[in-house]
Amino acid sequence: MKILIVGSGGREHAITWKLSKSDKVSKIYCAPGNAGIASIADCVDIRATDIKSLISFSKENEIDLAVIGPESPLILGIVDEFTAAGIKTFGPSKAAAAIEGSKVFAKKLMYKYGIPSAKFMTFSDPDSAYRWIDSIKDQCDTDGIVVKADGEAVGKGVFVCNSANEAMDAVKEIMIDKIFGNSGDRVVIEERLTGQEASLMSITDGKNVIPLIPAQDYKRIFDGDKGPNTGGMGCYAPVPAVPSEMYNQVMDSIIIPTVKAMESEGFLYKGLLYTGIMITKDGPKVIEYNSRFGDPESQVVLPLMESDLLDLMLASISGNLDSISVKWYNKCAVCVVAASGGYPADYTKGCQISGLESAADDQNIIIFHAGTRYNNGYIETSGGRVLGITAIASSYSNAIDSAYTAIKKIRFKHIQYRTDIGKRVRDINLQSV
Ligand code: AMP
Ligand code: GLY
Repeated sequence: MKILIVGSGGREHAITWKLSKSDKVSKIYCAPGNAGIASIADCVDIRATDIKSLISFSKENEIDLAVIGPESPLILGIVDEFTAAGIKTFGPSKAAAAIEGSKVFAKKLMYKYGIPSAKFMTFSDPDSAYRWIDSIKDQCDTDGIVVKADGEAVGKGVFVCNSANEAMDAVKEIMIDKIFGNSGDRVVIEERLTGQEASLMSITDGKNVIPLIPAQDYKRIFDGDKGPNTGGMGCYAPVPAVPSEMYNQVMDSIIIPTVKAMESEGFLYKGLLYTGIMITKDGPKVIEYNSRFGDPESQVVLPLMESDLLDLMLASISGNLDSISVKWYNKCAVCVVAASGGYPADYTKGCQISGLESAADDQNIIIFHAGTRYNNGYIETSGGRVLGITAIASSYSNAIDSAYTAIKKIRFKHIQYRTDIGKRVRDINLQSV
């Protein structure tokens, strides 16, 4: 089969890497891709949101399957347009991608179908939001409160606030200053939950659901979970805090009810459903849904998958997931992200990267590229998150040590990475997970 992968990050590199291992795949294109993806696929210079050009390219090159990486084209309706053009496409329709595209939609869905999540209110004008925050001021100052922009905000639309004043400022930035444009026309204000988080990805055909192994993402930029939120600075899988009994319970109380709720609403959800949960003292609750693979979750989950990902994707599209089972390697994976200095705020691009070959000189290491590009035969930085160094091992401690040995060999100006990825599971025996 000829495959087109849409996107250019570490997630898309991991998807390309995994699909390239399928003996049913003869050729992979990636639009627009990056310097790492270019070593296993033909990169095509078309933006992920330029749906018209992507369709023309797919027709000219007789693409058998398109796989959509990022949320923006999904929210724009790329799957509907590709499908209408006769191209098989993995991912949810525009209506179904609203589960990520609108937090108001997702919260109302959870409320209607009794799916556990933080208590919330939604507002479409700032004055009502201010009045509400003022009416629960003491509670905000004691327990904190969370303010979320309704629409897409490149992973920056969530403000976890410590006081009513901070929450008022968040409402102002989102609804008056419009820092996320129309995505801030509405806000969700919700109870602040506490507990460990986990990223649960599953593949669904709209009726049947296949869970992938859980991963845990490190969202904050600095060690010890300090500093602002990022797209994700590292990850490990599987997650001891989500033992299989708990995962089964989450499947029954959260993930399967979500897929059924979407069907009842008339939006059959096909593709990858990412459910971010927080394990609170009252049990697991949904923090967010995404309509696509996680990044960097994919960089730890896909290398642990023994089965052919292509079979899962095709069964998701055709509605045959009930006939499929997935096998996993009995190992763990740790991914440490190397980012540009300054990220998630402003950073410099165009810094030459060295040490990639020597870092990859270990069969347990896979280097996934994110913001990288070629310039005159050299690889240089071209984004905030630059590389994801994944190590696979039979113990968390070996995986952590291998990942850090490898990342220390990589050099570019102003490189930054967290030094505590996986620390909390370092001494846990994988066989007990
Ligand atoms: P999101 O952009 O939806 O992934 O949210 C970013 C991060 O904000 C999550 O990973 C959580 O750490 C945090 N967060 C979101 N909602 C809540 C909540 N209700 N309570 C506490 N933290 C939250
Ligand atoms: N790592 C979080 C996400 O993919 O949304």
